[in-house]
Amino acid sequence: MTSDRSIRPISPFGAEADPELILRPTDAGCRELRRMFDEQGLVVFKRLKVMSMERQMEVCRIFGPVLDNPWENMLVSNTRPDGFLGAQKLLWHHDLPYLPRPYIGGSLHALEAEAGTTTTHFASGLAAWERLPQELRAQIESRNGLHVKQKIFDQRNRLADLEPGDVCAVHAVVRHQRQTGKPYIFVSEDLTDSIIGLSPEESEALLEELFAVLYAEGVTYEHRWEVGDLVIWDNETVQHARGDVTPHARTLQRVSIADIGYTDMYPTDLGVHSDQYDATLAAGTGKTKEGVK
Ligand SMILES: [Fe+2]
Repeated sequence: MTSDRSIRPISPFGAEADPELILRPTDAGCRELRRMFDEQGLVVFKRLKVMSMERQMEVCRIFGPVLDNPWENMLVSNTRPDGFLGAQKLLWHHDLPYLPRPYIGGSLHALEAEAGTTTTHFASGLAAWERLPQELRAQIESRNGLHVKQKIFDQRNRLADLEPGDVCAVHAVVRHQRQTGKPYIFVSEDLTDSIIGLSPEESEALLEELFAVLYAEGVTYEHRWEVGDLVIWDNETVQHARGDVTPHARTLQRVSIADIGYTDMYPTDLGVHSDQYDATLAAGTGKTKEGVK
């Protein structure tokens, strides 16, 4: 059993866990962490000693499978030349909803951050479903959403922006958490183009209503980074966003929880079968121009 104080609820959703649970893991402690991950979708550890990527991958394996390749695991940084995503604002999104199998989870670990200057926001689709009026639930229960490739980060991505070779995927608007079976809303400001089967006007109006519930003031969690913090979230029930992260230095080490990797679902994005094959991006993924190593 874990003590009552090892995992504490945080407001408005999620849990803060005692670092001991990962420094000296026990079967009971790991079960409790997984339970909070499934039920709340967000687990926060504050001010850990800075971890290597390998150690962060080990911790994430408490929650699910982790693939050892550079598409799923990377640095998100506005200072490092080898970092991704720069300083731009990112709208609310899940990671990879435009592929058949979005990541199971994500994690970020702060390597560089001036305390209190930089944040990431999280919104719960589980909690949003709980708040949704019955009439709105009935409107979306049998609907599917169209999710499009992320090509721009600070404004909505739409079907009309896609180019030849780009991808999109269809997912139910109301999905069910893998372990608990609880319903959650799966649409996002950034990557949901539309709700299928409605007119463009009806779809936009319904999405606006859902966004208003998902992102309402007071229902999202804003994590204010300090070096050593680790946040792990369920990427299906919880979505994330960030504001403009300039001018403060920020480097977060990112590890994904996934059973199928980006390049397995979308190998053509590396140009594996084309003349534009990008060996640099493919390094470590097991993909070569000839196929799989
Ligand atoms: Fe993301």
